[in-house]
Amino acid sequence: MKIKFILLVPALLIFLGACSNDEASIEEEVDMSTIRPPLSEFSEAEQEKIKYGEKLNTDTHLLLPENVGNNLSCVSCHAGAGRTKDLTFVGVTEKYPKYMARAGKEVSLEERINGCFSRSMNGKPIDPESEEMEAFISYYEYLSKDIDSPDQYEFMTVQHTAESVPAPNVEQGAQDLARYNCLSCHGQSGPEAANTGPALWGPDSFNDGAGLSRISKLQYYIKNYMPKGEGGTLSEQEASNIAAYILMQDRPEFEGERGFPNGDGPGDYITKEKREALKENLMDWTDFKQVEAE
Ligand code: HEC
Ligand code: HEC
Repeated sequence: MKIKFILLVPALLIFLGACSNDEASIEEEVDMSTIRPPLSEFSEAEQEKIKYGEKLNTDTHLLLPENVGNNLSCVSCHAGAGRTKDLTFVGVTEKYPKYMARAGKEVSLEERINGCFSRSMNGKPIDPESEEMEAFISYYEYLSKDIDSPDQYEFMTVQHTAESVPAPNVEQGAQDLARYNCLSCHGQSGPEAANTGPALWGPDSFNDGAGLSRISKLQYYIKNYMPKGEGGTLSEQEASNIAAYILMQDRPEFEGERGFPNGDGPGDYITKEKREALKENLMDWTDFKQVEAE
């Protein structure tokens, strides 16, 4: 018995050692729970603004009903109100002003925030001079306090866009969505639906000018971040099927300027027109440059 035990201990240690090494290389650079400075480092007045800013990110549709046209909040896509690595807000204050093809010019952080209000929130921009905008910025400055360059950590530089996605099979997408129980968290729409996760389509969802209405962005989001807590478990093909199925359902139409004044638009926003063309086989998914030929 004793001998066996003595042999087992070093073997176990080697085994555990190997595991923790692997984890260190997978779990990149930082522990997100330690990246933020304690609130107590800020003055009371600043703390108030930071807390209001955080609340605006978590309860956006409740606090700003005039500016939100669906029932999403920033936290509906920016997990943990930007405190995690998924669509993070850590370091965001270091990234702006920044050139954006969609605007065809350099945009400020305030303008970028309002981009999500107009498109992802299917709403209206907030006044850049308002207390609310100030609170948004204070909260992002707080999350970014220990960051001093836009590429300090790898997770800050992610483009959230798949370079190419496998050609989707929409019918298979309906089955994959059911198999992964996506709708157990995502109510479809309307008051009767269980709605612990945001609506994925319908009047309460993001509009067709939002980044996620692009097949390359929705596929990336689903592949990397969903199902919640199990990101990375779907295959590229499954994520593509599900993204295409979601984008084939109706959603609000973006009414503003579509942007890309320099003609360099990515072309894969699934607008109502594109959706109809796809339904009627007037076009094919592989017509999008981001979708691989079959
Ligand atoms: C439907 C999903 C969705 C919602 C809701 C949403 N966003 Fe976003 N947001 C995105 C995506 C996707 C990106 C990044 C990719 C892109 O540019 O399209 C992004 C990017 C951003 C960026 C730029 C981040 C960077 O690193 O450059 C800011 C700032 C931002 N969002 C603010 C907000 C705010 C504020 C709200 C709430 C009022 C909000 N977003 C709600 C999807 C969403
Ligand atoms: C355990 C609950 C849960 C499951 C299961 C789940 N999600 Fe989510 N999903 C969420 C939550 C919560 C968010 C909000 C962002 C966050 O916290 O990560 C979200 C965000 C999203 C978004 C962006 C928000 C928006 O307005 O569309 C998409 C797209 C999405 N999920 C798709 C899926 C798909 C596809 C599946 C199945 C493969 C899935 N989710 C499974 C909880 C879930």
